[in-house]
Amino acid sequence: MKRLSTGIPEVDELLAGGIPEGFLVAVTGEPGTGKTIFCMHFIAQGVKEGDKCVYVTTEESRDSIIRQAEQFNFGFKEAVEGGKLIIIDALTGLEERWALKSLDVEALVDKVIEAKKELGRGRGRLVIDSMSAFWLDKPAMARKYSYFVKKVLGRWGFTTLAVSQYAITTSEAFGFGIEHIADGIIRFRRFVRGGVLRRFLLIEKMRQTPHSLTMHEVIIIDGRGMVVRPARISKEDVALPRSVMDRIARAIREREAELPGDEL
Ligand SMILES: Nc1ncnc2c1ncn2[C@@H]1O[C@H](COP(=O)(O)OP(=O)(O)OP(=O)(O)O)[C@@H](O)[C@H]1O
Ligand SMILES: [Mg+2]
Repeated sequence: MKRLSTGIPEVDELLAGGIPEGFLVAVTGEPGTGKTIFCMHFIAQGVKEGDKCVYVTTEESRDSIIRQAEQFNFGFKEAVEGGKLIIIDALTGLEERWALKSLDVEALVDKVIEAKKELGRGRGRLVIDSMSAFWLDKPAMARKYSYFVKKVLGRWGFTTLAVSQYAITTSEAFGFGIEHIADGIIRFRRFVRGGVLRRFLLIEKMRQTPHSLTMHEVIIIDGRGMVVRPARISKEDVALPRSVMDRIARAIREREAELPGDEL
């Protein structure tokens, strides 16, 4: 089986080499957890390997995506100019060829196919960031839409990352749609530990893959991008601070000392 590198060596290892070619993988998680940056790695790797790359953005403008990618030296601007990458802007309602005026799934699929024809034959990589945007006002259609996208674009040689926001308010939209249709689920999470925001990644599903089942920590480094390492979730992260534990122990001892023995 052919697998595509995600562009992050540690994640490829968690995936027994990478994402199987032709898969549609849901990338889910709360805001700011690294979904977009992860997708950028996948595209940057595709450009490097000569894949035909398409990035659909519904959350940020094309310029914003290019600027964010620039911070990690992914060279999206050069890739677009060099005809290796097409960024379809579905946010700003631009009147131009590589834009979507409305969040319509059939229009999306048509536009992605048009982009693939423009880029030429060969292996394709597609990011849809986000896919949930297409059904937020009609969650009942999520499953049908996901299936449609997977069926049609799979035939066009794409391996796809479909971002699916996950928050309390959208969990229903997510749960209703893509998770069973997707060939894989990569979930990003965040916690505040000791007053510090920490991000984590877990491969929840990847068909035909003996993948890691362990939570890994995600670190985003300016100029470089995402680095992933085994999560060091120590006992201290979940336990109370030492001083509090000592105080509780002391209180228990004192209370026991006060209690008459025959009542114990
Ligand atoms: N140049 C940088 N250096 C270090 N960290 C950065 C840099 N640029 C962005 N970040 C971090 O990455 C976060 C954004 O990550 P990303 O855009 O991938 O999140 P997301 O999961 O896509 O969120 P959303 O669901 O809101 O789109 C920022 O909040 C910031 O913490
Ligand atoms: Mg994002």
